[in-house]
Amino acid sequence: MTSDRRRAIDALVAAHLDPGLGADPPAGRLPLAQPTFGAAEVAEAIDSLLSGWVTMGGKVQAFEERFAAWVGCEQAVMVNSGSSALLVLLSALVETGRLQRGAEVLVPAVGWSTSLFAVHQAGLTPVLVDVDPDSLCIEGVFDHPVLAVHLLGQPSRARSPLLIEDACGAHGATVDGLKVGARGVGGCFSFFFSHHMTTVEGGMITTSAPDLADTCRSLRAHGWIRERSDRDALAAAHADTDPRFLFVSAGFNVRPTDLAGAFGLHQLDRIDAIAARRRANHADWCAAIAAEGLPLRCFPERPGTSHVGFGFPLLLAPEAPIDRPTLCARLQAEGIDTRPISGSNLARQPAVAHLPRLRLEGPFPVANAVHDRGIFVGQGHRYGDGQRDLLLRGLRRALTG
Ligand SMILES: Cc1ncc(COP(=O)(O)O)c(C=O)c1O
Repeated sequence: MTSDRRRAIDALVAAHLDPGLGADPPAGRLPLAQPTFGAAEVAEAIDSLLSGWVTMGGKVQAFEERFAAWVGCEQAVMVNSGSSALLVLLSALVETGRLQRGAEVLVPAVGWSTSLFAVHQAGLTPVLVDVDPDSLCIEGVFDHPVLAVHLLGQPSRARSPLLIEDACGAHGATVDGLKVGARGVGGCFSFFFSHHMTTVEGGMITTSAPDLADTCRSLRAHGWIRERSDRDALAAAHADTDPRFLFVSAGFNVRPTDLAGAFGLHQLDRIDAIAARRRANHADWCAAIAAEGLPLRCFPERPGTSHVGFGFPLLLAPEAPIDRPTLCARLQAEGIDTRPISGSNLARQPAVAHLPRLRLEGPFPVANAVHDRGIFVGQGHRYGDGQRDLLLRGLRRALTG
């Protein structure tokens, strides 16, 4: 019965979807992103729908186990977004006593908005610091806890006794042969549609500390014990309370569905090929742009790291003949989508007014340059020479035309 159903689903999906990684981008367009999923993911999700089990279940658990092994750490806890992963991990670091409430955490001034906001939401004190001009990441050896954002596929090499990794846009990037997400006390990933791999919306926490993973499991789902490895001991210790509704953390509800787990399982079969292609594109595009001698710079892979090219950042030189908005408009006219480099200088975002404990460790010459003169363009596993040449032509026309 089940295999009949699965055969019928596979036939239906095969009639509509490529078994591979989708189509090339349309000619004359450099879009921001392209789908990374195909027939296997859609069939698995339909199978979940028809099975009747759609909430977090066996497929999420199987995906967590495979994802932890892929990153190279002991445990993984899936949630409904990368932002939720950051919120849960940082809250768990406080709840397990690894960070005292109010403690300072260094956060790069260039990162995603919710990388910063999660530090505040977890009751910690974010300290914004400038980023390195060659990587656009936080770099150095620190005494303080650090939230290192691996920016647009570029891995940060920062070191700290308490390193928290935001790897939401850097799946498969490495530092000294170690995958990001396995370098510190915990890592966070996003599986939003435009990322290296997707569950449509989704996120993951990675760690090798079992107690931290268990606390994340409680915080993810109402604060209860159901998915914890120590649930039997906790139930015995609180025998007067029904273990089905025994709450040990002041939790959230940021669970994923099993449809997201279904997607994730098959995305893991594709991620290495996707990351390799993005890495090769990044190196190729950097070399091609450097050879043009245009008044802008790009950000090549650095020694000891592998860069998995999430987006392709560019920084106009101060002496460039046009400003940032003009560059964006001219590239758009050439079919090339652009975006700001993440949150640019987060210290200049109005939302920081809502962060009473924020400390700014300025000045921010690099973050300000990114804010005023930086853009990124799309990158993808089906992009290649055609997209590179379109970008080169667009940049030439925009800057010299
Ligand atoms: C560096 C970084 N951190 C966090 C996030 C948030 O992830 P999500 O959109 O899944 O909440 C993103 C999203 O792009 C990101 O790039």
